[in-house]
Order: sequence, then C-alpha cells, then structure tokens
Amino acid sequence: MCGIIGYIGNKQATPFLLQGLRRLEYRGYDSAGMVVIDNTNFNCIKSVGKIDKLAEKLKQTKFTGNIGIAHTRWATHGGVTIENAHPHFSADGSIVLVHNGIIENYRELKDFLGNIEYKSETDSEILVNLIAHFYKGDLRIAVESALLKVRGTYGIVVMHKDKTDCLVAARMGSPLVIGVGEGEYYLASDATPLLAHTNKVVFLEDGEIAEVCRNSIQTYNLKDEQIVKCVEQIDWNDEQAEKQGYENFMLKEIYDQPTVYKDAIRGRINLDEATAHLGGLNMTPEQMKKVDRIILIACGTASYAAMVGKYAFERLAGIPTEVDVASEFRYRDPIITENTLVFGVSQSGETADTIAALREAKRKGAYVRGIVNVVGSTIARETDGGTYIHAGPELAVASTKAYTNMSAILLLYALQFGRSRRLSIATGERICKALLEIPEKMQSILDNADAIKEIALKYKDYKNCFFLGRGSNYPVAREGSLKLKEISYIHSESYPGGEMKHGPIALLSDDFPVIAIMTKNQLYDKMWNNIQEVKARNSKVLIIATIGDEKVKDLADDVIYVPDTMELLEPLLNTLPLQLLAYYIAVALGRDVDRPRNLAKSVTVE
Ligand code: G6P
Repeated sequence: MCGIIGYIGNKQATPFLLQGLRRLEYRGYDSAGMVVIDNTNFNCIKSVGKIDKLAEKLKQTKFTGNIGIAHTRWATHGGVTIENAHPHFSADGSIVLVHNGIIENYRELKDFLGNIEYKSETDSEILVNLIAHFYKGDLRIAVESALLKVRGTYGIVVMHKDKTDCLVAARMGSPLVIGVGEGEYYLASDATPLLAHTNKVVFLEDGEIAEVCRNSIQTYNLKDEQIVKCVEQIDWNDEQAEKQGYENFMLKEIYDQPTVYKDAIRGRINLDEATAHLGGLNMTPEQMKKVDRIILIACGTASYAAMVGKYAFERLAGIPTEVDVASEFRYRDPIITENTLVFGVSQSGETADTIAALREAKRKGAYVRGIVNVVGSTIARETDGGTYIHAGPELAVASTKAYTNMSAILLLYALQFGRSRRLSIATGERICKALLEIPEKMQSILDNADAIKEIALKYKDYKNCFFLGRGSNYPVAREGSLKLKEISYIHSESYPGGEMKHGPIALLSDDFPVIAIMTKNQLYDKMWNNIQEVKARNSKVLIIATIGDEKVKDLADDVIYVPDTMELLEPLLNTLPLQLLAYYIAVALGRDVDRPRNLAKSVTVE
C-alpha cells in the first residue's frame, strides 16, 4: 500500500533507494519515483509501472546526491500516471515529499490553501503544499504545523532543497522505520530494505515526527515535545529476504515452510506436560480460565488461518470462537465482555482494518493480543501481548508461509487453553507429537512438486473452478481458492462440501472443475457423497487425498497425495499442494506471481 524509502549519509543515495524500492515493491507497484538533492538542486525521476522501469530510466541519467527519498505507489487518489507518481513537490518547488496513506480532509485543506496550480490528482500534493505554507525556515516545525491540520493516515518523508543535511519523517497509521547506521540513516516503510545495512532501528509511533540529520536523530510529538526513543535490534537478516536461487519469492517462501514452521514451534511445546506454552499471552491462569469467548480478527489469508484456529479452540478448549473479518467487525458494534479474548492475526501487523478493529476491541474492554510476523509492527506494539509467528520476511504478495505459521501458533494456543481446561494429557500428548512430525511431512509434499506441476498444466486453461472442503479442510479450501485467484486470475470460489447442493452446483459442467480436499478424517464419507454429486454433473475432479487411499481414484480424475496427520492439523499440510498448484498454474499462464495485478501485500488504508 505504497512503500516509502529515504537515505541521508555520506554515500550515494541512489543505490540504497533503488534496492529499497525493490524490497518494498510488494507494497504497491503501479508507479515509482525518486528525488535526490545534488547541491541544492532536486533531481527527480518517475516512471509508470514496476521498479524495473524506474531502474531503466536511472541508467540513462546522472543521479547523484547523498540525501534522497523514493516511493513505490499503489494508487488510491488519482489514476496511475507519471503526474500522480511520488515524490510530490510544493508549487514553489522548494519542498518534496513521499507519502503513504490517505489524507481524508484533503478537500478542506485544498480550500484552505486557495489558489494553487496542482500537477497531480493526489492528496499528497496538497499535503506538501500545506507544509510549504507553514515553512518559515524550520522544516520540522512546518511539518508539525501542517500535520496538526490533517485528518487521515500518513507515513511521510520530507526534504527541503536548502536543507541538505536533514530529512523530516512522520507517521500516523502508516508504518515507518528508521535504520541507524554509522553517520547515516535509512528510512523505510518496513525493516526489510534496511537489513543489508543495519539491524539497529527506531520504530516511529503514531503522532511522532523525526528530524533525521547526518549524525543525529531527534523525535518530537505533535505538541512539539521532544521524545526519547529506544534503538531496537531486529534479528532478521538480509539473506532471509533474498530469493536464494528460487525463481521468485513465492516459490522460495513455499519451500521455506518446513524450516520456518520449526522456528514457530521451537521452545513452545512442552512434551512433559503435553501442552504448549506461549509466554507472550500475558494472562494469569485465572484470567485464562475466565475467558468465555474468543474472537479472531484478520483479513485475507490471515482470516483463513484464523478459521483453523477457530476449529481448534472450540474442539480442544471448548471456548466459543468466532472469526471476524476486520473491516466488518469494526462497524458492527461487536459484543465484547471483560472475558472476551481477541486475537489480531496479521502477517504485516500493519493492516489498517485489523488495527482499527483491535483498537475498537480494546476500547470495549477485551483482552487484545497479536499473532503477527513483522517484528515491531503496529499490532505487535499496540496489543498487550501475543506471539510472533517467526516466518521470516515474506515478500511475495500472496501469503504462504505466514498462513502456515499463523495456523501453527493458533493451534498451540488452542492446545494451551485446552490443557488448562478439559483436554486430557493423552490427547495433549498426541497433538504435541503430531505437531512435531509436521516439518518432515511438509517436506515430502514439497518433494512431490513435479507431480503437482504436471497436474497444474492440465488445469491451467479453465476459466472457473470450485474448491471444496469440510471441517478442518474448509479453511484449506478457502485459502487454496484465494491463492489461485490472486496469482493466476482464474475465477475460483470455495464452499463447504455440504453447501454445494444449495446453489453453487448449478454452475457445474464439464468445463468447471472441482478441487476437493478430502483427506481421511471423520467427514471423509460425507465428502465422498458431495463429490459424487459433482461427478454426476460431468465436472473434472482433482482430489487432495491421504497417502494410501487408493479408493479415491474411483472418484478423481487426478489425485495429489498428502501424508496423514491429526484432523485439526490437516491445514498445516493440505494447504501446501494448493499453494504449489496455484503457483504452477500462474507461472504457466505467464503471470507475475510475486506481484499480482491490483494487489498489495500490506494494506494500510481502510
Ligand atoms: C492483503 C494481502 C493478503 C493478506 C491480507 C492481510 O490483502 O494481499 O495476502 O492476507 O492483506 O494481511 P496481513 O498482513 O494483515 O496478514
């Protein structure tokens, strides 16, 4: 949802800015731009399309300077044009800004500023003119005065052409991280572009403004009071954010799963007591016992991981659990009591809808905890506890390993709550053992990628398809369907197997295949009947089945086998072949799998 990046130091700014844009491209990629200051001149370059286009243009020009800002855009206000691409300048050309977010009262501010000739249709250009309006020689004060009049969200970095020794950055609702180097600072929407240069970072909070000079950084709030910030250390490394020989990030991240799953569960399973221990929950045993309702708030893929959690919390702990899509939860006036536990589930920890919903839950008195991947992200910092999923940097827009690790952490929480309530030590032990066996089983699925690729080629030309699953495999169906539509643009829907006959079945024909997740569990026979109904409509059927299930071949046109596990844990395995299926179909169709059209990885606007 737009990525912003900045540099001030003694080196040339352009290489870092360009590399940083590439790292942030997952946040938006319809256009990009960069400005560096050379003496007191702004050098500006912009392009429509992906970062490669900007890189091409950069090759053809001399672009020097050791202070600069850059931006990769996901359009909200105004179409995808060079004019609307950031950075934006004030009308007098003295101030330049990159902005991630939405200025809600931009019309009001435009009226306030009066007669200005705007070059773009963006709210950001109004903001930079507002800063220029207040500029009286001190850039930070001008930014502060302007922001006091702004309603909306922003992460901004601003430069003045006469101030070649400092940048001003501010945040409200859109993330901004400052990397601390030796006599240099790096600014970015998230920490991944900084990892090659430093692991010391300062996370700006909402309502904070930083004046970043070559040798110092000072932070203020909007009341002009100085704030002391801690420099934090992040333990992700740059190598984790590289493709490591894979064709693209998505494939690499799919293959990361056995490893990062181990990172997620490491030290969190207590075999002796047949339970899990997630210290970050931050609740006393008494508080845990009183929890009578759990709400899992998330968007997109994270909401399907949350569904995995719902089934587990209800089955293992007997706690009524709901999954709420964040954008709906917030405006529904949800019912929350002091014994409601709310988890925000989010890879980025920056999804605007999820953040807003969690704030609402907190206001209403729930326990609010985060299940988050990005360390130091807004949800991680605003919740009163929670757990990092340790998936490492996930850069492909379509989420894969984060889904798996979110599901794993939710299963661990369900086990922990279960064992503190009614769950027997014997069942606890079975679950712990099954959880520990998962990585090897994941690997065996990945080792079968060639067979999955072959099947993908058979299905790539269909225009529509259904994914069906029941029980634990229903979230798998949902996630499989989302993956396919996100990266291949094939229309796909997902339903509980039993729901087909209530409408969707009308769509079936011989050019409308069905992908059924039908592993050997208590609902196997029910699914069998549902798939027979599908077969009777001449649809082609691809079945995800348990190794050893030969009978399923009577029903299926194609089968992908997966290892057996406990029913609640099935999503940890059964989702993987569907990720690969979507991947190979998308590649065969020539799609840009890491950066599918119209999407952004981190959606920081409502
Ligand atoms: C966007 C992404 C999805 C992601 C969702 C939630 O829509 O395209 O892949 O699942 O946001 O993101 P989060 O960072 O909160 O998990």
